[in-house]
This record gives sequence, structure tokens and C-alpha cells, in this order.
Amino acid sequence: MENFTFYAPTYFDFGKGAEEHVGTLVRRFGGSKVLLHYGGGSIKKSGLYDTVKRCLKEENIDVVELGGVKPNPRSGLVYEGIELCKKEGVDFVLAVGGGSTIDSSKAIAAGACYDGDFWDFYCKKASIEKALPVGTILTIAAAGSEGSMNTVITHEETGIKTGAASEVLRPRFSILNPEFTCTLPPYQTAAGATDIMIHVCERYFSNTTEVEVTDRLCEALLKTIIHEAPRVIENPNHYEARANIMWAGMLAHNNVCGVGRVQDWASHHIEHELSALYDVTHGAGLAVIAPAWMRYVLKINPHKLVQFAERVWDIEPQATEEETALKGIEAFESFLKSIGMPLTFDEIGADEKDAELMTGKLLRSKPTEGNYVKLTADDVMKIYHYAATGEM
Ligand code: NZQ
Ligand code: ZN
Repeated sequence: MENFTFYAPTYFDFGKGAEEHVGTLVRRFGGSKVLLHYGGGSIKKSGLYDTVKRCLKEENIDVVELGGVKPNPRSGLVYEGIELCKKEGVDFVLAVGGGSTIDSSKAIAAGACYDGDFWDFYCKKASIEKALPVGTILTIAAAGSEGSMNTVITHEETGIKTGAASEVLRPRFSILNPEFTCTLPPYQTAAGATDIMIHVCERYFSNTTEVEVTDRLCEALLKTIIHEAPRVIENPNHYEARANIMWAGMLAHNNVCGVGRVQDWASHHIEHELSALYDVTHGAGLAVIAPAWMRYVLKINPHKLVQFAERVWDIEPQATEEETALKGIEAFESFLKSIGMPLTFDEIGADEKDAELMTGKLLRSKPTEGNYVKLTADDVMKIYHYAATGEM
């Protein structure tokens, strides 16, 4: 295991009715004038918006509103939010919604404390040293942004989708009431479950040895999703299954299962090019890319894929390591299909003719992608090719 530091001070308020505490939590973490940031309307339909407004009013907290965050959040609304925070003297950003809303909130929170262009943080020209405090009320178990120090934004002019990270971006509090996730369409539920699994896989597929504790945490999270996702697909109102998925989503990405090891992240970065270009749902893009990545790296570095097959998918050892690993990948693909996820370019409206463009954008400032296997441009093209044609 490698040396690490881990500081994840988010206060979690989990369970039925937790949203009623939003006013007192904003006050407790220093907010008196909040930017209430949200997406396209799901929180109005569910009644959460009204509850939040009432609870903030009860605590005499001033509210400035900015709705309209789109999935795969864009820079334009971030600029608008930063302006608004500066003009109105906002001292707290409250994100109510999914990963896109939370990521947009984090970008606004950092940009509001910075004199330059907030995009400097994303193109690595500047690091985030200061941000307004962020609180969240999560409505979809997926991105893990409610406990992570990450934010991912798409720049509207360049079409570049990329992330920034800082300890100061970890939410001060996150309210997680699984009941709010019951209104998610099955496709979003499944895409969220897939994203959670791949957050685990990005950490699991590592060449760092002697990491039994984090390996076992990863396997527990993967097995939880394998058990619970079909239950919510079958019965969207299954509270207990929703609750387990929601907490798994947080644990998968606040890095508790990723410390002390070199992580991979190739599947995510290869997918971000897809969601930047075609605006596909991130988790669905991952369902196409991650198994293709697994099939590709199998020939080069099978050891962790064998463990994945045996411990996560209960595959009996086959004649060769490669056969065992392949059975694990096949089990994973069948699972994704069973919950309604796509596995091919066709199913998400992607076209192989864009593979070169996406690869060029991905490797615009580095020679290789990922760590479990360091992928060159040629390797990435082959992964896109597999996702497009089913041929290696
Ligand atoms: O906008 P509204 O109306 O709220 O609708 C949303 C949106 O259309 C809807 N939705 C959310 N909660 C709902 C609901 N519909 C009905 N009932 C509910 N309870 O779901 C749609 C997707 O929402 P979004 O916020 O985009 O989903 P998700 O949480 O999957 O976030 C995806 C974004 O997060 C990024 C992704 O790349 C993508 O941009 N990621 C962020 C990470 C991070 N910050 O650490 C890590 C991830 O790997 C990921 O890259
Ligand atoms: Zn993700």
C-alpha cells in the first residue's frame, strides 16, 4: 500500500425527511445568503423545491436562484452563476439535484472566489485554493459528487469536458433521502448504478499490491450494486434497495476505497469524450466503454481481471487466466444488458468516424491515458473500434 492522506469532512444527513434539515444545516455551515442551484425541473415535480424554499425561509436565509443545469453541465451557466454570486454577495451555494447540478455548483463556488476565468481550474492553469461553501441535496445516486472533491464541466466553445479537484470543494453537508430517487426513470437509475460500479473499477484496477482492505471494500460495493440495481429496476419504489445504492454511490467516489493505490481512470476519460461530443448520459457511455476497455487490457495485464471475475462474479477458475477473466467480463456485460444499459456505439448514437477526433482531444496534453495499462492513442482508437464494431 502507498502512503496517503485522507480528509473527507462532509456531514451526511441520510434518510427519510432529511431534507427538512436543510435550513439549519446551511446556518450551521455559515450560510446566510444562498445561491439555490438546480436542474431542469425534476425537483419542482417532486415537491423538493417547495420544501427547500420553506426550510430556508424558516431560518431567515436569503435565496438567489439559478436553475437550468443540463446533464453534462456547461460553462455558460457557470459564468452566469459566478456573476450572480459576486453581484448578490452570496456566501453559500446549495445544489439540489444530481451530479451535474452539484458539479456546476462547485465550479460556481470556486469561480466566485477567483478573479480570473474559472476555466483556468479545469485547464490546469490554476489550482483551486478557495471556494464558497457548498451543500447538496442529492436526487440521483450516480456521480458521487455529494462526497467527492471533483467537478466535471463541459466548455461550450471548445467542447472539452474535463474535471477539476480540490479538497475545498468537498461539500460541507450532503442530504441524502433515498425516497427522492424513486422518481428516476429506469434508464437514469441504471446509468447511475453503472457509474457507481465504474467509480469502483477505476480504483480496483490497479497494479499496487497488498491493498486487501481497499480491494475488499471495492468488491463489497460492486456486489451491492449487482444485488440492488435489479431490485430497483423491477420496483422503483423499493426504499431499502434505493438506500443501499445511494450510500454505495457516495462510498464509491469519496475515495475511501481508492486511497493507498495508483488508480486508473482511463474508462472515465475515454467516456467523457463521448458525452462531450454526443451529450450521452455519462453512465450509459461508461457501459459502452468500460467493458471494451476490459477486453482490450485483458491481453496485456489480466491479473486484476481474474480477481474481478472470481471475487465479484463468482467465476470458477478456468483452464487459463485469460478464460477466467473473459468470463468475468461477459458476466459484467450481461448484467449491464439486464438493467437496460447499452453496450455498443450504435445504441448511444455514436459513430466510429469520430474516434480520431475524440482520441486527439483526450490525449491533447499527455502521451498516454490510464495507469493499469498505459494506453497510447493507438490503444484508445482500438477501444473505440471495439465499442463500435464488437471486433478487437
Ligand atoms: O435536471 P433535472 O430535471 O433534475 O433532471 C435530471 C437529469 O435530467 C434527472 N434527475 C435527477 N434526479 C432525478 C431526476 N429525474 C427524476 N427524479 C429524480 N430524482 O436525471 C438527469 C441526470 O441528472 P445528472 O445530474 O446529469 O446525473 P448524474 O448524477 O449522473 O451526473 C452526471 C454528471 O456528473 C459527472 C458526469 O460526467 C456528468 O456530467 N461526473 C461527476 C463526477 C464528480 N463530480 O465527481 C464523477 C463522475 O464520474 C462523473 O464524471
Ligand atoms: Zn463517473
